[in-house]
Amino acid sequence: MAYIELSGVTKRFGKVAAVNRLDLSIEQGECVAMLGPSGCGKTTTLRMVAGFEDLDDGEIRVGDRVISSKKKHFYLPPENRNFGMVFQAFAVWPHMSVFENVAFPLRIRKLPREEIQARAEEALKHTNLWSVAEGSPDDLSGGGKQRVALARALAIRPDVMLLDEPLSSLDPHFREEMRFEIKDLQRRFHHSILYVTHDQSEAMALSDRILVMKGGVVQQVGSPLEIYGAPANRFVFEFIGLSSFLQVALRDGRMEVAGASYAPPAPPPPELAAAGGAWLAARPNEIAFSTEGGVSGTVERKAYLGEVIDYRVRVGEAEVRVQKTRREPGPEVGETCGLIFARPRWYPLEG
Ligand SMILES: Nc1ncnc2c1ncn2[C@@H]1O[C@H](COP(=O)(O)OP(=O)(O)O)[C@@H](O)[C@H]1O
Ligand SMILES: [Mg+2]
Repeated sequence: MAYIELSGVTKRFGKVAAVNRLDLSIEQGECVAMLGPSGCGKTTTLRMVAGFEDLDDGEIRVGDRVISSKKKHFYLPPENRNFGMVFQAFAVWPHMSVFENVAFPLRIRKLPREEIQARAEEALKHTNLWSVAEGSPDDLSGGGKQRVALARALAIRPDVMLLDEPLSSLDPHFREEMRFEIKDLQRRFHHSILYVTHDQSEAMALSDRILVMKGGVVQQVGSPLEIYGAPANRFVFEFIGLSSFLQVALRDGRMEVAGASYAPPAPPPPELAAAGGAWLAARPNEIAFSTEGGVSGTVERKAYLGEVIDYRVRVGEAEVRVQKTRREPGPEVGETCGLIFARPRWYPLEG
């Protein structure tokens, strides 16, 4: 059985559904990243799980216990949900030592003094803060402050960790380092984690599964590999990694692009063939140059990005991005070339 279960979870602000009929289950010890552009409903979802927002519809369970239910008019208060939370802003108390920042929530819970000491010490050691425990959090870097927030969340021994863009205010260098630290902590403590981010590489690196959201609606849930390799729709394809799209007409088993007709690189799904057109999608590194055959285009730009050469190829109205390593031969700017789609994916023109 899933450890956390959201069913039909809906939240409206005025007429707009910030989160619309969201279903998600998270297993014990699993990290699920909630990924999507700004305003798509990630924070609202997290706040409903935390208990800071009620629901306009649906239910949330942890284990066999209902914690939020619209139908039953039941909401377990946030302080009675044993959740550890870390937010984007550095929520440390500057007038308390690092140690006190971590111990304070335990004092509120009226735990015995030895227990508080032991738990705070353990959490500080796991986050590499033990040596600065007596100092002020104000003397720490942004990464250090977020580690204090993480230690504070760990010390309560939470059932679930809720993290809302915890690394997005950090320098890129710290961000990568802390990804590994969070992943290590998850393995060690076997927490269930709901991790909100708009950064697809962070979601890929950290999570067991990714939920992609757009406009309050779930687009796809799957492993990082599934999300990257088999995106459910054009939005997911474009949001994850680099993408190239061609709008094609499909007629009599042929595909037409910018006034020319070609044999498709693979048979499109019958429903798209019946609809008469589709988006042909590919990653820039899944497109090959050919001197005979392939979709005809003209190289407009060629940029050297270290090991990779980035081409922009004009095909009618569209610009197709192709990436090759330096060692592979490729056309020059102004030359015409054929594009072979080695791993085509097809999406409907609308939706
Ligand atoms: N308290 C609120 N009152 C009105 N609208 C809100 C409130 N909180 C969030 N929203 C709206 O709900 C949508 C989702 O917001 P949010 O969950 O913060 O998105 P994200 O975290 O994905 O950026 C946005 O359109 C936002 O403007
Ligand atoms: Mg947010």
